[in-house]
Amino acid sequence: MGQQRLPGAFGAEFTGLDLTGPLDDGTLNAIVQAIYDHLVVCIRDQDLTPAQFAAFGRQLGEPMVHVEKDILVDGVPEVLTLSNADGRPERQRNGGNHWHTDLVFTESPASFTMLNAVAVPRVGGETGFADQCAAYSALPDGLRDQAENITVAHCYEGRRDGSFPTVYHPLVRPHPVTGRKALYGANSTCIGIQGMDDDAAAKVLGQYREYALDESVQYYHQYQDHDVVIWDNALTLHTGPRLEPAGGGIDPRVMNRVSVRGWPTVH
Ligand code: OGA
Ligand code: MN
Repeated sequence: MGQQRLPGAFGAEFTGLDLTGPLDDGTLNAIVQAIYDHLVVCIRDQDLTPAQFAAFGRQLGEPMVHVEKDILVDGVPEVLTLSNADGRPERQRNGGNHWHTDLVFTESPASFTMLNAVAVPRVGGETGFADQCAAYSALPDGLRDQAENITVAHCYEGRRDGSFPTVYHPLVRPHPVTGRKALYGANSTCIGIQGMDDDAAAKVLGQYREYALDESVQYYHQYQDHDVVIWDNALTLHTGPRLEPAGGGIDPRVMNRVSVRGWPTVH
C-alpha cells in the first residue's frame, strides 16, 4: 500500500489497495485517518461491482438509500449511478452541478460520499472540492467571531416556498470526530439565518460564500478509470461537472455512488 498527496492543496491518494473484500483494521484505519487529515481520498484502480462497492461503503458507515428509486442500481439499492447516458434524466446527469455538501438539508446529513469511476470522459469530468477548514482559517477575525453565533436555515434545492421542511445547522460545525473547525454548508441550500431578516442574511451569507469558494481552497479531481474517491462532507463543499448527454463526440461519464452516515473513530 502506498500513500501520497494529491496534486492540489489538499487530498491524499492510495495505491496498491484491493477493496473487493473486507479490509483489515489497519487498512481501514489508514483510510479513515487519511479522510480526516486530507478531506478527500482517492483510491486508485478499483474495478468494483456495485455489490462490492456497497460492501466497502458499509465499512465506513451506514449507507443511505436515495429517495429517487429510478437511479438506484438493480438489486443494490445502496448504490446509485450518476450518468450522462442519452435518455437519462437531467438530475442524474447534472444533479451535482452546484457547490454543496450532501444532505445538508436534512437533520442527519451524510458523513462521507464516495464515487467509483466506471466511465471517465477525456475532458470535463472533474469533481471540484473546496476545503472548508482552510476557508474558516482565512476569515478575518470579525467574520470568524461572528460565524460562531450564526445558525443557517437550509432547504432542499434552496426552496423558499415551504414545499420542503427548513432544517438548521450551525455555520461553524466542529468535526464530530476530530473537532476541526470549518465552515459548513455556506452555499447552495442556504435560505437564511436564524433571527435575521432575509435581506441582511443574504448579505452575510454572501460574505462567507466568498471565503468558502475562494479559488485558493479549491481542488479539482481529474479521475482515472476505476478511481474510488471519498470525501468528508463535514469539511468540504463539492460540485460535479455540467455534462451534455453522451454520444456524437461527447464521452460517457458514469459513476457509481454510495453515501453514508456515521463517523468511524480512528485508533
Ligand atoms: C454527488 C455529487 C459530483 C460529481 O454524488 O453527491 O455531487 O462529480 N457528485 O459527480
Ligand atoms: Mn453531492
